[in-house]
Amino acid sequence: MEKEAVAALAHMLGWKIHLGHLTGGGTLANLEALWLARELGGGRRRVLASREAHYTHARMSAVLGMDFLPIEVDRNGRMDPAALARKLDEDVACVVATLGTTAQGAVDPLAEILPLARQVGAWVHGDAAYGGYFKLVATQYPTLAQDFAAIVDCDSVAIDPHKHGLQPYGCGAVLFRDPTVGRVYRHDSPYTYFSSEDLHLGEISLECSRPGAAAVALWATQRLLPLTPEGEFAQGLRAGLAAAAGLYHWVRESEDFVALAPPTLDIVVFGASMATASAASARARAILAAAAARDLHLALLRLPRDLAAAWWPGLAWDAEEVTVLRCCLLKPAHLAWLDAITTRLGAAGEATRTD
Ligand SMILES: Cc1ncc(COP(=O)(O)O)c(C=O)c1O
Repeated sequence: MEKEAVAALAHMLGWKIHLGHLTGGGTLANLEALWLARELGGGRRRVLASREAHYTHARMSAVLGMDFLPIEVDRNGRMDPAALARKLDEDVACVVATLGTTAQGAVDPLAEILPLARQVGAWVHGDAAYGGYFKLVATQYPTLAQDFAAIVDCDSVAIDPHKHGLQPYGCGAVLFRDPTVGRVYRHDSPYTYFSSEDLHLGEISLECSRPGAAAVALWATQRLLPLTPEGEFAQGLRAGLAAAAGLYHWVRESEDFVALAPPTLDIVVFGASMATASAASARARAILAAAAARDLHLALLRLPRDLAAAWWPGLAWDAEEVTVLRCCLLKPAHLAWLDAITTRLGAAGEATRTD
């Protein structure tokens, strides 16, 4: 079941052949990809990822004894290819492109990153832990099409069924484009793996024994909701994108909120309207509580000044960051609930007015 479930993910990414397996989550998936990049990198030691990449990359680089270097982003939170080009050299083992950052759902320009990384012979890893499933619908969205099409050329990809794949179990996945990289995992185990000549799942994973529940659950979900562009699952992804676009447009019209970078995926980040950064942060926290009291559960994000300032020209900066609101519209039902969401958000905004 695990092999079939992972093969369906590989098919979705556009790979006819692959090597891959499930993991406990995105962190383990990313660790294995970085480890392979190190093992096959001929002594190279550096990992480059955008400064908006998940902190797991810096942490796992340290675990692997590699040097992590954050790369600057543009005002949309996407890796800046020119900044990447300045840091690329023969010591770079791996360039990580994030397809769907944790904070804002930003998609790094993978189509531009790939040729740059190839110039120095670096491994390219796609951290699609959050956004990978959008590959199913990306051709229909001009802002996504190119970079999701480029996934097919990544050396490795992390994708988390426990994020967008409807799994309430710890369930990540790591996939490799070239199945022969399995040789790096190989070791002689004289007491197991007698059942087949093929590489056993325990031989292509850093973890050995793992629970099978995640594989069964994912396999069953994929049977019920196949990973096809026309299917119900893909329709749910489109609903999330539409809900995010709808919320963003509502925020733009509102007096209580400030629209920041337009959403690329289904995460919308917006500020609470105030004159200074510290007052906006305090009001965002008050809105979080006022919305929760109305059964609307949002999240907060601390946004560095340089990422917020471009979208918030009138704000007086009395702090180096501003706390803003973050809303993940990742369930298909969020689109049908958009009016209820904006009504409650509007009421929370009104309840926190100070003038
Ligand atoms: C882009 C990205 N990569 C990696 C991770 C880490 O995944 P996990 O929490 O499943 O280990 C996350 C989690 O939010 C993520 O969004």
